[in-house]
Amino acid sequence: MIPATNQRPPATVLFIFGGSGDLNLRKLTPALYNLFIDKYLPERFAVVGLGRSPFTDDSFRERLLEGVQEFSRRKNGPDDTWKSFAPAISYMQMDVADETAYSKLSDFVGAKKKEWNEEPNVVFYLAVAPQLVPGIATNLGKLPLCGDKSHVRIVVEKPFGHDLKTAQELNSLLGGLFAEEQIYRIDHYLGKETVQNILALRFANSLFEPIWNRRYVEYVQITASETVGLEGRGGYYEGSGALRDMIQNHLLQMLCMVATEAPISFDANEVRNKKVDVLNAIRRIKPEQVKDVAVRGQYGPGEKEGKATPGYREEEGVKPDSATETFAAVKLFVDNWRWEDVPFYLRTGKSLPEKATLITIQFKPAPYYAFPEEATHSWEPNHLTIGIQPARDIRLQFQAKRPGQALAIDPVEMVFSYKDAYSVQEPEAYETLLLDVMTGDATLFMRADQVEAAWKVVTPILDAWADETPDFPNYAPGSWGPEAAMQLVEKDGFQWMTK
Ligand code: BG6
Repeated sequence: MIPATNQRPPATVLFIFGGSGDLNLRKLTPALYNLFIDKYLPERFAVVGLGRSPFTDDSFRERLLEGVQEFSRRKNGPDDTWKSFAPAISYMQMDVADETAYSKLSDFVGAKKKEWNEEPNVVFYLAVAPQLVPGIATNLGKLPLCGDKSHVRIVVEKPFGHDLKTAQELNSLLGGLFAEEQIYRIDHYLGKETVQNILALRFANSLFEPIWNRRYVEYVQITASETVGLEGRGGYYEGSGALRDMIQNHLLQMLCMVATEAPISFDANEVRNKKVDVLNAIRRIKPEQVKDVAVRGQYGPGEKEGKATPGYREEEGVKPDSATETFAAVKLFVDNWRWEDVPFYLRTGKSLPEKATLITIQFKPAPYYAFPEEATHSWEPNHLTIGIQPARDIRLQFQAKRPGQALAIDPVEMVFSYKDAYSVQEPEAYETLLLDVMTGDATLFMRADQVEAAWKVVTPILDAWADETPDFPNYAPGSWGPEAAMQLVEKDGFQWMTK
């Protein structure tokens, strides 16, 4: 989290593997640039893009500037900010499979140390395809420099493993090369301002916490819907699917924020311990229960704005009989004193009607016996909606008397909206996360045991799904997913909330 004191991190050299790739272009460099504008970057800072493409420093900087102009929340800083920022960027062409090439990195750090007369922090950011991670990490681990636990960190992007076994293997490989406190596993949802705010909402107020439990909460819903289809990511997504891509990480992490007990401090390990407790308390799904608590879907061909759109199976890089799900919905229970028997419904999908992430906490209905019958026609339980994106708001719905002589009741809303309450633009998730890596704050990153605990939650579903051929495609693009997803909540007497 950004320090309230605006204290800059110490001198840092940041190496980005996959320097010419999409993630750097769309997210990392725009984030660094915004940190630079806001004066959060270290005074002494160097970022080195590493990749196979042949760039010079200048052509690399130009490419990154295009990315900033297209994707950054600020296209241009004041005056000539880019010109002041650009000299910190350089490029090294490198074949990551070539073990001998890695000494160049130590040489670069050595030169900076001399130039700055200071031991810099060194961050290795692996913005590369998951299959390259073990090789790069192994080569980095051989550099004597990486033994310096207090100065050297490695950042690993998701997906973290393909299943529990591969995640454990990767954890054990990384654990043999680096100390856990050097490893920063990214889940970019944790960097989102509105996700972090869940802890503030719950624990900086006395209003919500007393009713935040099974006695008052009827259910919790978390929806992360996307309108986009594959966007050319067929190669990756085919081997992943919605459960692995979104639920195992982003949605379970949001569930943890909603369900966690209060940490006794915001120390990284304390917060993460509490979140692991939640994951470990999630009721294990038995193989025969999977069909009752998990729904998968895949979008077929359809039409968007009058134009025909391909079904998932027609997308590039996708098998014509693909069984990969582009939609997943699950019902989970957190079996502890606070949450026992409160259903947590999670759903996510591609090609849905809206791009929106929202969390709904529905409270148990108030008894209405005292009210005349006609007053109860529009009776609704209270709910609290946390708009993660794009709404970025918190809405509390309660009931009020409609003005007039009759005793009629209407649901009304109290709203807190970031946009209306604050004029400053909030930082992008990657700004927060990059700054945290540079300052050495791992609170918003996934610890090894968290990742494994999350895989354990979804493993029974993955196993059951792997054993059966689904009847795909089973939803139209632009719809809210397969019919069975509706039934998942309707059979419990509820509806999916879409706002
Ligand atoms: C990524 C997934 O982790 O999150 C993508 O791999 C998904 O498939 C993306 O589109 C969604 O992130 P956001 O921040 O746009 O909601």
